[in-house]
Amino acid sequence: MRSITSFGAILCSAAHAVAQYTNSSSTGGATTVPGNDTAPFPNVTYPDGVSPDPDTIAGSQSNQTSPPKYPSPWSTGAGDWKAAYEKATGIVGQMTLEEKVNVTTGVGWTLLPGFTYGHAVWRLQLLLPPGVNVAAAWDKTLAWLRGEAMGEEYRDKGVNGLLGPVAGPLGRSPEGGRNWEGFSPDPYLTGVLFAETIKGIQSTGQMAIAKHFLLNEQEHFRQVPESIQFDLGNITYPGSSNVDEATLHELYAWPFADAVRAGVVGVMCSYERSNNSDSCQNSYLMNHILKGELGFQGFVQSDWQAQHAGVSAVLAGLDMSMPGDTVFDSGASYIGPNLTIAVLNGSVPQWRLDDMATRILAGWYYVDGDTPEHFKPINFNSWTLDTYGSIYSYVGPEWGYGLVNEHVDVRQEHGRLIREIGAASTVLLKNVNNTLPLTGHEKLTTVFGEDAGLNPWGPNGCSDRGCDQGTLAIGWGSGTGNFPYLITPDAAIQREITDHYGAYESITHNGALDQIQALARRGGQVGGVCIAFASADSGEGFLHPGDNWGDRNNLTVWQGAEAMLVNVTSNCNNTILVFHTVGQIDISHWKEHENVTAIVWAGLPGEQSGNSLTDVLYGRVNPSAKLPYTIGRNRTDYGTDVLYRPNGDVPQFDFREGVFIDYRGFDHRGLEPTYEFGFGLSYTTFSYSNLQVTKLDAGEYTPSTGSTPAAPTYGTISNDSSSHLFPSNFTRIPLLIYPWLNSTDLRTAYGYEDYGDESFIPEGARDGIPQPILPAAGAPGGNPQLWDALYHVTVNIANTGKVAGAEVAQLYVSLGGPYDPPVVLRGFEKVSIQPGQTTEVGFDILRRDVSNWDTASQNWVISEYPKIVHVGASSRDLPLSAPLS
Ligand SMILES: *[C@@H]1O[C@H](CO)[C@@H](O)[C@H](O)[C@H]1NC(C)=O
Ligand SMILES: *[C@@H]1O[C@H](CO)[C@@H](O)[C@H](O)[C@H]1NC(C)=O
Ligand SMILES: *[C@@H]1O[C@H](CO)[C@@H](O)[C@H](O)[C@H]1NC(C)=O
Ligand SMILES: *[C@@H]1O[C@H](CO)[C@@H](O)[C@H](O)[C@H]1NC(C)=O
Ligand SMILES: *[C@@H]1O[C@H](CO)[C@@H](O)[C@H](O)[C@H]1NC(C)=O
Ligand SMILES: *[C@@H]1O[C@H](CO)[C@@H](O)[C@H](O)[C@H]1NC(C)=O
Ligand SMILES: *[C@@H]1O[C@H](CO)[C@@H](O)[C@H](O)[C@H]1NC(C)=O
Ligand SMILES: *[C@@H]1O[C@H](CO)[C@@H](O)[C@H](O)[C@H]1NC(C)=O
Ligand SMILES: *[C@@H]1O[C@H](CO)[C@@H](O)[C@H](O)[C@H]1NC(C)=O
Repeated sequence: MRSITSFGAILCSAAHAVAQYTNSSSTGGATTVPGNDTAPFPNVTYPDGVSPDPDTIAGSQSNQTSPPKYPSPWSTGAGDWKAAYEKATGIVGQMTLEEKVNVTTGVGWTLLPGFTYGHAVWRLQLLLPPGVNVAAAWDKTLAWLRGEAMGEEYRDKGVNGLLGPVAGPLGRSPEGGRNWEGFSPDPYLTGVLFAETIKGIQSTGQMAIAKHFLLNEQEHFRQVPESIQFDLGNITYPGSSNVDEATLHELYAWPFADAVRAGVVGVMCSYERSNNSDSCQNSYLMNHILKGELGFQGFVQSDWQAQHAGVSAVLAGLDMSMPGDTVFDSGASYIGPNLTIAVLNGSVPQWRLDDMATRILAGWYYVDGDTPEHFKPINFNSWTLDTYGSIYSYVGPEWGYGLVNEHVDVRQEHGRLIREIGAASTVLLKNVNNTLPLTGHEKLTTVFGEDAGLNPWGPNGCSDRGCDQGTLAIGWGSGTGNFPYLITPDAAIQREITDHYGAYESITHNGALDQIQALARRGGQVGGVCIAFASADSGEGFLHPGDNWGDRNNLTVWQGAEAMLVNVTSNCNNTILVFHTVGQIDISHWKEHENVTAIVWAGLPGEQSGNSLTDVLYGRVNPSAKLPYTIGRNRTDYGTDVLYRPNGDVPQFDFREGVFIDYRGFDHRGLEPTYEFGFGLSYTTFSYSNLQVTKLDAGEYTPSTGSTPAAPTYGTISNDSSSHLFPSNFTRIPLLIYPWLNSTDLRTAYGYEDYGDESFIPEGARDGIPQPILPAAGAPGGNPQLWDALYHVTVNIANTGKVAGAEVAQLYVSLGGPYDPPVVLRGFEKVSIQPGQTTEVGFDILRRDVSNWDTASQNWVISEYPKIVHVGASSRDLPLSAPLS
């Protein structure tokens, strides 16, 4: 049992968040439900200037509810989980009640030393480009390799789980603070890269935790204490994201289906409410969608302090409480000993606890976390960079002191991959008369902007990167990391030029306009070049640089860069603009500006920022990245926005636009973007020809039928109440969460006032009898026939330019219905082609790709509307199309 105990200990703590949730109530052994599964959503007030187009919304405002769905589906070892499931149930059958409870509950915030699961490791080591750059690379292999690199570093730190990747936020609004941690507002692109990242991570024996489930689309009002403390609004519960069922399936849950199909072992529920029911006790989301329809066999864990009840959460599908305490360092847990009591008094049936423990252990076995090459002792501490320190961090050295950080360098040569991803994700938006690539032998190279240089406080000078000083290479919050070094653009371009003794000058102070004007004039003289840098940052809601509370307040550039850009571009007629931004920014004026000869979006490139950029600017890498989102002309064109001022005690984020976010909305409303989704230039040119569509014989779609087995239990729970007490002579570390009781009288064990009140327990929530299998279910990811290929599509792509390059061929489908976007991405392949050569690219169109969610049959259906396939270089450059018969 040794490995179980250490496993239980390892699944603990780490991460972020400063605020505390104090607004929860409890009753003995069972806790009340602050959520309301059936409340309708009130109307919302939109931020000034934003008014969703009423034509787009029909159908999207109905059924914005989370109906109660019980019991919680038990795992069955479906799909390729059989071996892991059997190993897990074999162990669970031998575990005591307290051992089972232990694996479901973290020990508390900042208590044990080097715990896993966190950004902590990430903080100590590499700084890879985040999801948004992976999305801009449109490269499945790089997504997998990035996942593998992260997994290797976590593994070598002695960790066994990684809190990522991210597909929630999906990126509903450009201002959303954490969008950059995820991939793209397009669910198909996100789904593919999410799944590849998960497979890469899990290939190293690390458990990937896909997050945040679901509808976690803004930072404002995600937590009550944060809102009140920061004076954003005196709210009583976290805000609620309200969405209809079709939008939920076709947009927000779509990538999670890919994740479950790819075998992700963990899913993190989110801070926000969904349809006015707390996400971490939302039976519709966890029981019905995730474990029912998507057949998820792994475990659901809470975000840090996103759990607000015990029994209600467990019955709604929550399997693990992280970091374990109700409020950081309170010593109390919604589960822990509360769960021990709840099982003993019958509030939670044994089968549910067994299922929680089984799902957690099966996840670990599923990734082969128990094998010697994957299971390594912990060698670092999340809470300090010191070598020696408190073993139980928060409670101080008197409870244990020693070696806490071995400072193991786990980075290997991942810097090479980081540089490659940085270059592969650099999008070339404008390039007049082949301004780029540069030769490096320009008469004078001039560089402008704070965003080109180093943060004077050092690359890690601001806690959790919570400032925008110097060049921007990662956003802020718990998804960030510590730089082991940061190659700035200023340093890399300078080296490029001075290696052969050329002429180089830079000004990284945006306020030095006299000097900027003078240098820009010199740079603009014959044979010179000006390169000007600007940034826009965002991050997690517990930090607020420049009063941006996680979410961005605007879509313009930071650091006072606009005046510098105006000055450089008006004085230098060969200005290249480079943007390091978390997402969309207003650049239509630069697109039109005649002195702006090139525009480059470099996103958040990570530690090799300058090197990745010079690889592209000087032509060692031919750009092949494409925008993972639409850049609009005006903020209001997006049709969605963050809610910055509360519209009630429980803010309502009403997703009235339905599926019409990003290009889906621009195309539907006929709005011209600055640069469309999927757009990106190369140093060569490509032409598309010869679209061929072959219909495959996949047969009819059969809804799943039948029922599950009854809920199994493993082992028996001792009814000798003294066996549930703390062992004698046990030394308790203060504030640590233990599973044992302090009294044999359950009623008085922890002083419950309304012990025994079960009126809040939903109907059927404790039934372990066989349950009907949902029509859209049947295997991890959903009904397996959704993945049947219905058509095979091929197209020829020729490199018609002078240099080798890679093209991202994109396939879109018109689903044809009145509430369908004009086109939706349903395939992409990145191919390298030599000049003068032609390559054939193939795509499979799956049943799922041409289906819509049907609320009446609760299943995916192919509508009768005519469908068309389009292939081309972006969402608005689709030269080839054909009907799908
Ligand atoms: C049980 O949960 C309640 C919150 O519902 C909490 O107040 C109480 O302290 C918990 N008990 C223990 C022993 O953790
Ligand atoms: C839930 O909301 C419905 C509709 O507003 C209301 O009738 C009901 O009383 C609410 N239930 C609880 C427990 O608040
Ligand atoms: C919400 O908006 C709809 C449509 O504009 C309107 O019919 C309804 O009365 C509004 N409801 C409330 C509670 O304001
Ligand atoms: C539960 O975990 C705590 C903390 O790691 C440990 O001290 C205790 O022995 C464990 N109890 C059981 C029953 O496994
Ligand atoms: C919240 O309530 C406090 C105390 O009543 C008040 O001072 C503050 O202005 C309120 N904040 C907001 C954003 O309404
Ligand atoms: C591009 O080059 C051509 C040919 O040298 C020239 O006529 C044209 O003005 C240039 N365009 C721009 C925008 O500089
Ligand atoms: C550039 O800055 C200089 C010095 O402050 C100022 O005189 C000039 O007007 C500025 N030019 C533009 C176009 O903003
Ligand atoms: C946009 O926000 C940034 C960061 O807070 C700020 O520096 C900039 O001045 C703002 N832009 C405008 C036009 O207000
Ligand atoms: C709402 O959902 C119910 C079942 O969940 C379905 O019967 C009904 O048709 C839906 N209504 C709409 C307008 O989609």
